[in-house]
Amino acid sequence: MQQGSSSGHASGKLPRHVAMIMDGNGRWAIRRRLPRVAGHRAGVETAKDMVRLCGEKGIEVLTLFAFSSENWRRPEEEVGLLMDLFVAVLEQQVKELHENNIRLRVIGDRDALHATLRERIQEAESLTGDNSGQTLVIAANYGGRWDCCQAARRVAQRVKRGDLAVEDIDEEAVRRELSLDDLPEPDLFIRTGGERRVSNFLLWHLAYTELYFTDTLWPDFDRGAFEGALAYYASHQRRFGRTGEQVARMQGV
Ligand code: FPP
Repeated sequence: MQQGSSSGHASGKLPRHVAMIMDGNGRWAIRRRLPRVAGHRAGVETAKDMVRLCGEKGIEVLTLFAFSSENWRRPEEEVGLLMDLFVAVLEQQVKELHENNIRLRVIGDRDALHATLRERIQEAESLTGDNSGQTLVIAANYGGRWDCCQAARRVAQRVKRGDLAVEDIDEEAVRRELSLDDLPEPDLFIRTGGERRVSNFLLWHLAYTELYFTDTLWPDFDRGAFEGALAYYASHQRRFGRTGEQVARMQGV
């Protein structure tokens, strides 16, 4: 069970999986009188720093929300620039990810992505697929509700094929069809940029996740800020529905 694996870390105080909403790039740029895309470029540098920091600290999985299904509503020019940026980041970074034994996974609805981006994603995933170190998950054209719908469709297909009985549809049967599949659920969720929302991110997976919100804009989110979030996580006892006394007993406190 996923919850079991996460609860094992409640005493370890270091999250296995951190999920981040990288918000505030636009405001960071505007405050500097720069075009919004300059904020996204600076945001890429922060994303790279976070991958390195997670590796340094032994955090197994980092999931970054790069583009939501709702982000298509942005001006066409910004969407185009973001897509070009994703292609460039993949082209420039995939070798380094591979050299560092990092496995890249991209989650989200790929059908709407540009063909070149789809190809780069495919290449990067096959190159790094067997790496055994950290996992970096990029959510691109991702939405939590979309994820639940595509999982429901796959469950229905299993039922139609006769592989699964309706009465056997349980949490595990649904979970295995969701995009994160066998990865541990996020222990810690971080959103920068001041908003206190999960914005259709990993809806199913955030059920027991510690939520951390900061006003710091994404390009300014640095080592110290990340360590602040990790300290917040370490100071919170995760109970998974149990009482505080039960958890203390389980941890031998
Ligand atoms: C939200 O800031 C940010 C995005 C929609 C794009 C995030 C993308 C990156 C940081 C690039 C990283 C890419 C990879 C592949 C890791 P915003 O524009 O909503 O900021 P605002 O709220 O200040 O306007």
